[in-house]
Amino acid sequence: PATAASAAIGSVAVTATNGLSAAEQAMQSMAAFSTRKVVVVMVGLPARGKTHTAKSLERYLNWLGFMTKVFNVGALRRELVGAEQKADFFDPHNAEGAAARKRVAALTLERMIEWLLADSGGRVGIYDATNTTRERRKAVRIRLETENIRVLFFESMCTDEAIVNRNILQTKLFSPDYAHASAEDAVADFKRRIAHYEEVYETLDADEDCAYIKSVNVSSQLILNDIQGYLPGKIAAFLLSANISPRCLYLSRHGESEWNRSGQLGGDPPLTTRGRIYSIRLAEFMASEFTNKGKDLPLVWTSQLQRTRQTASSIPGMTICWRALNEIDAGMCEGMTYKQIEQTRPDIHEARKRDKLRFRYPGGESYVDVIHRLEPVILEIERTQEPLLIVAHNAIIRSIFAYYYGIEQSKVPHIDIDLHTVYKLTTQAYGCKLEKFSFDVDGSEYNNKTPEASPRAASVPSPVIL
Ligand code: ATP
Ligand code: F6P
Repeated sequence: PATAASAAIGSVAVTATNGLSAAEQAMQSMAAFSTRKVVVVMVGLPARGKTHTAKSLERYLNWLGFMTKVFNVGALRRELVGAEQKADFFDPHNAEGAAARKRVAALTLERMIEWLLADSGGRVGIYDATNTTRERRKAVRIRLETENIRVLFFESMCTDEAIVNRNILQTKLFSPDYAHASAEDAVADFKRRIAHYEEVYETLDADEDCAYIKSVNVSSQLILNDIQGYLPGKIAAFLLSANISPRCLYLSRHGESEWNRSGQLGGDPPLTTRGRIYSIRLAEFMASEFTNKGKDLPLVWTSQLQRTRQTASSIPGMTICWRALNEIDAGMCEGMTYKQIEQTRPDIHEARKRDKLRFRYPGGESYVDVIHRLEPVILEIERTQEPLLIVAHNAIIRSIFAYYYGIEQSKVPHIDIDLHTVYKLTTQAYGCKLEKFSFDVDGSEYNNKTPEASPRAASVPSPVIL
């Protein structure tokens, strides 16, 4: 891309005087290009979902391993100027308020730049403020480009009054800005605040000569302008998939398999009797969540391995089998137990203990590989509006779980995901609620019975809310 490449080469030209050959210069320019920092500048009136989008994007990029942080101007404003500012503070004709807001916005921008340019600095900054005027956007863009930071604007435009009202009720009533106000006063004041911003609001326009994504009325229209480069492409793909309707995602490992019993890794073993009982418990549980309440059962996704397909097989309806949901590939260690690995390949045992996230089994995969192969699954989950049940494997459920709860990559391989347990995730503004349903599947109780003949009553436990 012309602009990016010339800027990157421009920065290398400074070092070219140090006697680098043309080939070395080219190599450096490629390195500069591929590691160039990116800032996503949020744009939009209050209550348009900027913070929600910023936090989701932060979670996604961190999950993929790109260190990302949101810098929220409102948070610093509360810290420095005080929370509970009335709407007048945001009046563009209020010189004192305007000066204070300008100062806080500039300070937030500088803090973000400092974080990005530090030695162990981040890769993507998200500048979360309204940035509603062309003048302000231009100043922000020029400041960032001076530091050779690539800039991408994201505007959430919303003309649907009902969505704005719902957003105010869902989030602004709980803001520290209205800690001591009645709901009625808070809504009225927040609407006056929006009106002040509307006085000066200018939507992004192609003649501003910048890369941007504009989402109108929650993605009913999406406009992309001049999106170029690896990370901006990823960011755009995510923002195009993200949806905000609250929905439920059910996650479960498969029931106990023959190799869970013997302690062997990987493979394609069938379920044990306990595993098959769990399959029935799971189907009963899904019925209690859906059919018994007069709702259609959700979509079911499994891996291509028989233990997940068997686990989902008691649930009526269609199942989609994803190869991307297969368990981490243990390569030459497939079929071995941890003990055998320790005894016969202490080097592998040690290396994995040192860095379980990055360790790649010879001929197999690492957790980082797994996370990257799950990326299209995550985008598809985001796009899917309906509830969904995913029956997969330990490493896979860990990775999906980490995405939803923003768990840092190094901790992903250590998350406890129990067998015979359903994790129900319900998305909400700024986060996700978790309920955990554990099933006591006691093999001995059913040893002499076929699972189908097992008692079904009272098998749905009460939820544990984490
Ligand atoms: P402010 O400028 O006051 O900080 P904001 O634009 O950052 O407001 P949020 O606090 O993120 O707004 O609003 C959260 C609400 O916005 C949530 O209820 C969420 O469902 C909703 N939301 C998320 N994305 C969008 C979108 N693209 N368009 C409209 N609403 C959205
Ligand atoms: O609701 C508006 C708000 O989120 C304030 O909390 C915050 O101070 C402001 O936006 C930040 O944006 P601006 O850069 O327009 O001051």
